[in-house]
Amino acid sequence: MRTQVAIVGAGPAGLLLQQLLHVAGVESVILEQRTRDYVESRIRAGVLEQGTVRLLEQVGVDARMRAEGLVHDGVSMAVDGRRFRIDLKGLTGGDSVMVYGQTEVTKDLIAAAEARGAPVIFAASGVALGGVEGDRPFVTWRKDGREERLDCDYIAGCDGFHGICRASIPPALIQGYERVYPFGWLGILADVPPCHHELIYATHERGFALASMRSASRSRYYIQAPVDEDLAAWPDARIWDELALRLGPEAAAGMARGPSIEKSIAPLRSFVAEPMRWGRLFLAGDAAHIVPPTGAKGLNLAASDVCFLSQALITRFRDGSEAGLDGYSARALARVWKAERFSWWFTGLTHRFPDMDGFSRRMQTAELEYIRGSRAAQQAMAENYVGLPLSGG
Ligand code: APR
Ligand code: PHB
Repeated sequence: MRTQVAIVGAGPAGLLLQQLLHVAGVESVILEQRTRDYVESRIRAGVLEQGTVRLLEQVGVDARMRAEGLVHDGVSMAVDGRRFRIDLKGLTGGDSVMVYGQTEVTKDLIAAAEARGAPVIFAASGVALGGVEGDRPFVTWRKDGREERLDCDYIAGCDGFHGICRASIPPALIQGYERVYPFGWLGILADVPPCHHELIYATHERGFALASMRSASRSRYYIQAPVDEDLAAWPDARIWDELALRLGPEAAAGMARGPSIEKSIAPLRSFVAEPMRWGRLFLAGDAAHIVPPTGAKGLNLAASDVCFLSQALITRFRDGSEAGLDGYSARALARVWKAERFSWWFTGLTHRFPDMDGFSRRMQTAELEYIRGSRAAQQAMAENYVGLPLSGG
C-alpha cells in the first residue's frame, strides 16, 4: 500500500488531520490500534474553543455539533461556596466556547472518514515506523494474522501520550518537560440535568470540583481526589455529597442526583516534548504534550497542532516547499506552551496541594478574590479560556 501521509492514531488529532488533508486533496491512511467501538466509547472532555469549532466547520463536520452542542458565553468560579461569573463573550469581544463531548467529535470525524472513503484501519496491532530519517518512510503493522506495510511521504504521530511515535525518536534528539500533580480527578457521568446552565469551577478547603455537562439532560462532574484512590471508596452518594459541599449552596440547591453511568479517576500531568519532529515524522496532540484538564485545552491543542501541520503538508504537496514543515514544531510549540502555562496556572490556583501551608492557601484565596473584583484579571483569564488566536505564531 502507498499514501501521501500515514497517520498513527484515530483520536481527535489523527481524525481531524485526515479531514483537513482530505478536503485539500491530500491522501492519508490512519492506523489505529483499538477497535472502532472502543474509540467511539471513550469518555473524554467536552469544551471546544472557537478555533476548534471553525476547523470542524472547515472540514464540513459541524452539523451535529451545531444541532446538539451548547454555546456557552460564560463560566463561573466558586471560592469556598461563593460564586462569580466570568463573562467570556463580553470580555473577549464576542468569543464563546462550545460544550460538545470529544466522544461526539470523534464519532462525527469517523463518520466523515467513512462517508468520504478516507481509510481508517482499526485493530492495527504492533504499529512500527521505518525509514523516518530518509525520504521513503513507511509504517508496518499486523492485522488478521497478516503483516502489512504502508509506504508514504510523511508520518503524523497522533497516537497519544502512550503511543509509539514519540517513543520511536532517539532520546538524544528529543527533550521532555514534565510536571506531575499530586492528585487526580474523579469524574462521573450521570443522566441528570446539570446543576447550572454554565460550567462551575470550584475551589474549596476540601479540594477542587467542576460541574460540567454533555447536554441539558446529561451532567459531567469532577472532584479532586488522590490519584491512587480506590473507586470503591466513592459510592455515588458520597460523590454527590462532596460535590454539593465543594460547589457551594447555590449549585447544591440545583443539583439533581442520579446513578453514575461512568466513574473513573485520571491523573493530572503537564508535559511537552521538544521538538515535535524527527525527519519525516511529525508529532501532534497528546503524542507531543499533555495538559491538566483544568483549562479544557487537551482536545483544543490537538486541533491547533493539526491545523498547523495540515497547512504545512498541503503547501509541501502543492508547491514543493518544505518551509512550513521546517517551521511546524516551533509554530506549534509557541501555542502549546501558552496553553500549558494557562492550564498549570489554573490548576495551581484552584486545587489543594498536600504540602500547601497557610500562606500558600491565602495566596490562592487572594488571587481568586482579585480575579473576582478585577475586569482586567477576568479578561486575561477569558482570552485564554476561549482559546488564543490560531493565526500567526
Ligand atoms: N498504534 C496505533 N494507534 C495507537 C497506538 C499505537 N501504538 N497507541 C495509541 N494509539 C491510538 C489510541 O488508541 C488513540 O485512539 O492513538 C489515539 C490517540 O488519541 P488520543 O489519546 O485521544 O490523543 P489525541 O488525538 O492527541 O487527542 C488528545 O484526547 O485523550 C484526549 O485528553 C486528551 O483531549 C485530549 C485529546
Ligand atoms: C468536561 O466537560 O469533561 C470538562 C469541561 C471542562 C474542563 C474539563 C473537563 O476544564
